[in-house]
Amino acid sequence: MKKILIIGAAGQIGSELTLELREIYGGENVIAGEIKEITSEKLLNSGPVAKVDITDINNIADVVKKYNVDAIISMAAILSACGEQNPQLAWNVNMNGFINVLEVARELKLKQVFNPSSIAAFGPSTPRNNTPQETVLKPTSMYGVTKVAGELIADYYVFKYGMDVRGLRYPGIISNETLPGGGTTDYAVAIYYEAIKNKKYTCFLKEDTMLPMMYMPDCLKATIDLFQADYSKLKHHSDFNLAAMSFTPAILAESIKKHIPEFTIDYKIDFRQAIADSWPRSIDDSAAREEWGWKPSYDLDAMTADMLKVLGEKHKKGLF
Ligand code: SER
Repeated sequence: MKKILIIGAAGQIGSELTLELREIYGGENVIAGEIKEITSEKLLNSGPVAKVDITDINNIADVVKKYNVDAIISMAAILSACGEQNPQLAWNVNMNGFINVLEVARELKLKQVFNPSSIAAFGPSTPRNNTPQETVLKPTSMYGVTKVAGELIADYYVFKYGMDVRGLRYPGIISNETLPGGGTTDYAVAIYYEAIKNKKYTCFLKEDTMLPMMYMPDCLKATIDLFQADYSKLKHHSDFNLAAMSFTPAILAESIKKHIPEFTIDYKIDFRQAIADSWPRSIDDSAAREEWGWKPSYDLDAMTADMLKVLGEKHKKGLF
């Protein structure tokens, strides 16, 4: 039986992943680690909660010992846009924090570590269409720098210490439970909230900026499938390309208009455009498909229908 600590359990992905893993492994076996005070009733009422600062190695070790943790999922990160406002903080949280996790796992002989990477690991000299698994990794954002370094140090711990460390390169993740914090792909979440609330949205990326994206149910499936995959079948470990769909703000707006014909979009470009311009337009995820059977379920229109339904109900209840 696994005892899992999720660090960053109140974040966009962590909040939903924690609940999903509690369904699978039992509430008491999935510890929600978070630096902020957790306020979600769902998280508080479904299993243990611990204060975890990923930059404090003793804090992580104490929680691991207290709950007999044997796997850590490290979701705490400063994303791309926030990382450009404070690159030193991004390095400290994303890299030094992750090395703390690896060191606790090594010293306390944990069974597994999971650390996501991102499309931000790629850069302007990477081929942008159908970006291959093995390619140029020269990102220009600090977030991307920490993601490449994270992939490399994770693989180093695999080869040097024989540890089980896994990870994949998330595209932009779209969800309706917890808002993302400080990323470049955040527009693709905000647009749905604004479509429901105001029937218009001002986008900070240009209308033809194509980026790889994924709906949260697929993100959870990919994460859990790789987490549970037969380790002996994996040739890659910490850097799986992952894809579901690619679209531009203009294409996304058209998808929303099929449900809300009066919806309009306009554009006010900011510094996040340069980050987006350095990332791929689409991703080749054949290694994930071959090594652990990855297959997404949602395309853009299926995601839009579900997002608008869920957010429409939340808006009626006065939740935003
Ligand atoms: N969603 C992330 C960001 O925009 C990319 O992994 O920073």
